Amino acid sequence: MVTNTLTITDNRTGKQYDIPIENETIKAIDLRKIKVNDDDFGLMTYDPAFTNTASCKSRITLIDGDKGILRYRGYPIEQLAERSNYLEVAYLILHGELPTEPQLKDWAWNITHHTFINENIKKVLDGFHYDAHPMGIFISTVSALSTFYPEAKNIFDADTRRKQIYRLIAKVATIAAFAYRHRVGLPYSYPDNDLSFSGNFLNMMFKTSELKYQPNPVLERALDVLFILHADHEQNCSTNSMRSIGSSHVDPYSALAGAAAALYGPLHGGANEAVLRMLNEIGSVERVPEYISRVKNGDFRLMGFGHRVYKNYDPRAKIIKQVADEVFEVTGKDKLLEVALELERIALDDEYFVKRKLYPNVDFYSGIIYKAMGFPVEMFPVLFAIPRTAGWIAQWEEMLLDSDQKIARPRQIYLGSDTRDFTPIENR
Ligand code: CMC
Repeated sequence: MVTNTLTITDNRTGKQYDIPIENETIKAIDLRKIKVNDDDFGLMTYDPAFTNTASCKSRITLIDGDKGILRYRGYPIEQLAERSNYLEVAYLILHGELPTEPQLKDWAWNITHHTFINENIKKVLDGFHYDAHPMGIFISTVSALSTFYPEAKNIFDADTRRKQIYRLIAKVATIAAFAYRHRVGLPYSYPDNDLSFSGNFLNMMFKTSELKYQPNPVLERALDVLFILHADHEQNCSTNSMRSIGSSHVDPYSALAGAAAALYGPLHGGANEAVLRMLNEIGSVERVPEYISRVKNGDFRLMGFGHRVYKNYDPRAKIIKQVADEVFEVTGKDKLLEVALELERIALDDEYFVKRKLYPNVDFYSGIIYKAMGFPVEMFPVLFAIPRTAGWIAQWEEMLLDSDQKIARPRQIYLGSDTRDFTPIENR
């Protein structure tokens, strides 16, 4: 007879324990009853980077790393990238279902009508040095928003939450573009509500003296597809930060600033920037083998390669390669593309990478596309943060409404000194 339990024998005591298995998982807290004696705290698990720990139950995004599958709310990423648009996908991620036509109209109207930012935010932006990294500006400015909307603290009020969701999705794009304009010393270009979400973002980035900015439709669509691909990715480092910070019941702006800070790191959303710097450093196809041998030597990592979950291929990287072809039709090919293709060719054939299941990830080609579209390298992680905002707030809301969740508070294994008496400085 099959029972959904795990029987554990503690060889220290010879005792046996039956632990229930639910959703292919045991509850870590069930291990606590495994004790040597009554004073014993009970058994814990040690999982420093959460490599085998589920921190939540979620209904938003599914990744099957072995099969190279990514789905939002059950819909394959390939279908969404081909047939949907970023705002519709953001609605799907947040609401669980695709919108009807009136629902989508209402959603788009609400997002569009929250794109403006308080004029005082410009003073915050002005405080940054001319060469401040736009991701640093982005993180700080999102966090500053919490001071403009103090009512956002009412996180258990559904209407208040809704309002902040509109604001966040809309305003992150404006803040991102303004961070760029500040850096290059251009006047801010205000949102144009006649344009699509990504068309308006291009307008806020690149509009100069023309009366009405007209985005190139191919580039506008390419950016929208990139936004779809980046919208959510289940429990990655920044999403885990969003949930963890949010679990203290802070307002969503503060939590999202923390999530964006986690994204900034080169092992996460900063990888696309690092990829481009790496390709520039390699410079030519001839230098690729030497670079690869240094990676194998352990000198540094091949940026844009490898993933904690995908061990076959990253489905987003496949879609991005198609988008790249369409973009290059408009912008012309970038010479770094050849270097990237050669790097990919050699790495996919090399035992070091094959053995470790290292494949190009989403960041490998996205940077080359962004560069061809005219975005400076420093903007790449910011371009990741704009659409990931939808995922962060969906995950945050799911966490808030989940009765299993409490303030995130891991345990530790203490290996420090035992108790000892303070020694006066003259005796040390
Ligand atoms: N280049 C060379 N070796 C690598 C790489 C790489 N990019 N990634 C992993 N390895 C090696 C690593 O040295 C280790 O080898 P060994 O077993 O001999 O010690 C083995 O592969 C396993 O690596 P790991 O660090 O245990 O793997 P992880 O799951 O903890 O790390 C990762 C995942 C994405 C942080 C890592 O692959 C990496 O640093 N990649 C480069 C940065 C990058 O492209 N990040 C973007 C990730 S996708 C977008 C996002 O989530 O933001």
